[in-house]
Amino acid sequence: KKANMSIDRMNKISDIDDRIYGSFIEHLGRAVYNGIYEPGHPAADERGFRKDVIQLVKELKVPIIRYPGGNFVSGFNWEDSVGPKENRPKRLDLAWFTTETNEVGMQEFDDWLKEVDSQMMLAVNLGTRGADAARNLVEYCNHKGGSYYSDLRIEHGRKDPYKIKTWCLGNEMDGPWQMGHKTAYEYGRLANETAKMMRWVDPDIELVACGSSKMVMPTFADWEATVLTEAYDEVDYISLHNYWGNFDKDTESYLAGGILMDDFIKSVVAICDYVKAKKRSRKKINLSFDEWNVWYHTKESDKQIEHWLQAPPRLEDIYNFEDALLVGDLLITLLKNSDRVKMACLAQLVNVIAPIMTETGGKAWKQTIYYPFYYTSVYGRGEALRVSLECPKFDCRQYTDVPMLDSVAVYNKEQETVTLFVMNRSMEEDLEVCCDLRGIGADRCIGNVALEGYGFKAANTADCPEQVVPVHKPENILEDGHMRTVVSKASWNMYRFH
Ligand code: AHR
Repeated sequence: KKANMSIDRMNKISDIDDRIYGSFIEHLGRAVYNGIYEPGHPAADERGFRKDVIQLVKELKVPIIRYPGGNFVSGFNWEDSVGPKENRPKRLDLAWFTTETNEVGMQEFDDWLKEVDSQMMLAVNLGTRGADAARNLVEYCNHKGGSYYSDLRIEHGRKDPYKIKTWCLGNEMDGPWQMGHKTAYEYGRLANETAKMMRWVDPDIELVACGSSKMVMPTFADWEATVLTEAYDEVDYISLHNYWGNFDKDTESYLAGGILMDDFIKSVVAICDYVKAKKRSRKKINLSFDEWNVWYHTKESDKQIEHWLQAPPRLEDIYNFEDALLVGDLLITLLKNSDRVKMACLAQLVNVIAPIMTETGGKAWKQTIYYPFYYTSVYGRGEALRVSLECPKFDCRQYTDVPMLDSVAVYNKEQETVTLFVMNRSMEEDLEVCCDLRGIGADRCIGNVALEGYGFKAANTADCPEQVVPVHKPENILEDGHMRTVVSKASWNMYRFH
């Protein structure tokens, strides 16, 4: 079968906000303890941060990291995590039924962020707490000094404000599993009042309101419409969360999961713009897809974990080849929607549903999903370009008329490069592709990388960390301004041109 594509510099979707390559670290399982922080490990620095993990995170170029949760934040007292470590209380975390020692808190996490060249996206607790604790936290973090909480920060040894710009107004407040779960109206009112007060303390912050915690939530759409009706003027972004899983052992539908993401994003954009119209507002609300990933491998086994342990292994999904393909296509989907999706967080980053895994006391290694994230984050910066595409379609159990190919291109002005990302979702068909590149004036292919040819369930493990790695393919695929190549069935591909 054959497909035709063309790319043109004039076909711009948007400037990409680099924060689309964000990620997430929650006080959950071994993400923090025995993940990024393991004093006594041979690779730990003097503060207990694992240097091998720092290196792997740095390679991913993650510009922003959401912290400290997640469900965890909805029962979190931020005051427990600041000041001298010996005074910090141990608390029961009712989100994950563990014991939180608070050994790593605000200052330690900020120290670690500096090592990995990233910034904090800080979530406030709107579950068990509210506007008062949130505005005090903004004062503690961002006020220069001369007030109770800013002086407390200085007393804690941190003279300069953290200057945290991006704040999440709670987490998944639509979910009955959340501490302090609320109706859309209750949450919308609270988000509005909290946002107002936080911004009065620091007018330079940006605020993200909670949207739905997955597209199949029964409250989806009404939730967003109500929350935005209440809080439109005070917030800047609305969040989307969604996790994918091949629960039905139906790889064909699973590989088409980008369709759901696209549909979810477009629906939330429509709701934002509906509320905008209703309010006759000139302001545009953008999207923060601040939790997305594959999460299903450990859902059953995690139910057995004993309560109140400290940092037990949890949500340690081992990802396979089909998961990596889907993650690659979800990244393509985010880029195709980068006119409205300004931030996104791969959930999460280390050990907990993560591209990077560690053995306690042992190695750090890359999961299969590390690779599509790495290549897209490193080479997918600049302007997103729409790819014109003609290709065969197929039907599967979950979707009809699925285009076999999905694609987006990124133009980088400084480097004078165009990077083309292409996914072949078909499990059966290789596609002969001809891509017209005259509209970008490319004369050389400078990179051809693919994730292809592995068994769908092939995975990397600590002992065999390189079972699934990208292959580097020939670059002589460009002639007369056209790329001619075969895009293998079930593959994710990156082509770079100069
Ligand atoms: O990322 C794991 C969990 O998934 C988060 O704590 C929660 O926000 C979501 O349900």
